[in-house]
Amino acid sequence: MNVGSTKELSPEKRISITPETSKNFKNLGLKVFLEKGFGESLGFSDKDYTDNGVEILSNASDVLSKSDLICKVNFPEAKELGQIKENSHLIVSNYNPEKEKQFLKNKLKIFALNLLPRITRAQSMDVLSSQANLAGYRAVIESIYEYQKAVPMMMTAAGTVPAAKVLVVGAGVAGLQAIATAKRLGAIVSATDVRLTAKEQVESLGGKFLTVEGSENLETKGGYAKEASEDFKKKQAEMLENAASKSDIIICTALIPGRPAPRIITEKMIDKMKSGSVIFDLAVTQGGNAAYSEVDKIVNKNGKKIIGISNVMNKLPLTASNLYAKNLFSFVRNLYSKEKKQFVVNLEDEIIKNTLLKE
Ligand code: NAI
Repeated sequence: MNVGSTKELSPEKRISITPETSKNFKNLGLKVFLEKGFGESLGFSDKDYTDNGVEILSNASDVLSKSDLICKVNFPEAKELGQIKENSHLIVSNYNPEKEKQFLKNKLKIFALNLLPRITRAQSMDVLSSQANLAGYRAVIESIYEYQKAVPMMMTAAGTVPAAKVLVVGAGVAGLQAIATAKRLGAIVSATDVRLTAKEQVESLGGKFLTVEGSENLETKGGYAKEASEDFKKKQAEMLENAASKSDIIICTALIPGRPAPRIITEKMIDKMKSGSVIFDLAVTQGGNAAYSEVDKIVNKNGKKIIGISNVMNKLPLTASNLYAKNLFSFVRNLYSKEKKQFVVNLEDEIIKNTLLKE
């Protein structure tokens, strides 16, 4: 069976097959075809791939017409989809039904890794976690870059520089990594979440957990957040108004699956923040956790910067690709039957069933 991939469309810098994972495909008994210059943007030459048994083809359409399985980061455009041979398999990182449902009317078996069930067996394939972890880290780095002061406390002959205060809203995958990163850089970190189980995790990373007074645990059986009541939102806003006014940097990562991003950092809170403060809104593409945030913009509101970056992984595409490619390979290993020497879409397998897109 043949596996293939083509270059992603700009501005995406991540790739789906690295020289390391191409070796893994070969060891599994699969032949890999890649478009010429596939990994160039990340510093991988064609030779890095051919050394691992990959065949480089001069154009994308040759790769698409020869492959039984296509690996991509983003959902391909209509033109590319049309060049994939019938009954092939396609794996993408993310599926957006609003934009992409129209493309399911073809004879491909398309799998979207953002739909993986969060079960132990799928952990090595979990792209949401691997990418959000990096996003949480990078959100802190980007914020510090825009913040015009030093982060750690420094005692100098000219005086003491106080440590920056970082507030993290939402302590899931991205939030916990943001806490760890800010802590490592010497910030004083506090965080809040609607799931009370997050308290222990925040504290284990050295952060202070801010609990909304009298709140109940808003956690589903699957470990995600539930929509908060109006009473909770009011109390959370009062608590955060005070916390925000003392914060230098706020990292927003709050998410309720399947819902628009909860609006948590209000105009009033931003108004009370010090000039020079920075807010990073990771949820910007889902409508934003913070007022004023705009996709792929840094908004300056009376000296406070609100950063919204739609694809933070593009800021560290090499690490993001290495992890994504490994996640994707784990998925393929589960899809491929060595005995039958073919891809087997076993709908009794929860991993396959959940990720296979249906019209
Ligand atoms: P997650 O589900 O692991 O964490 C979200 C956290 O927010 C949960 O702990 C949840 O309990 C909490 N939360 C929900 N409502 C809240 C509220 N009202 N107040 C406080 N906490 C609340 O999600 P993950 O993977 O960490 O992603 C976080 C966000 O970052 C998502 O919106 C995701 O789409 C976004 N993201 C953006 C990227 C980018 O490039 N812009 C890259 C990766 C993730």
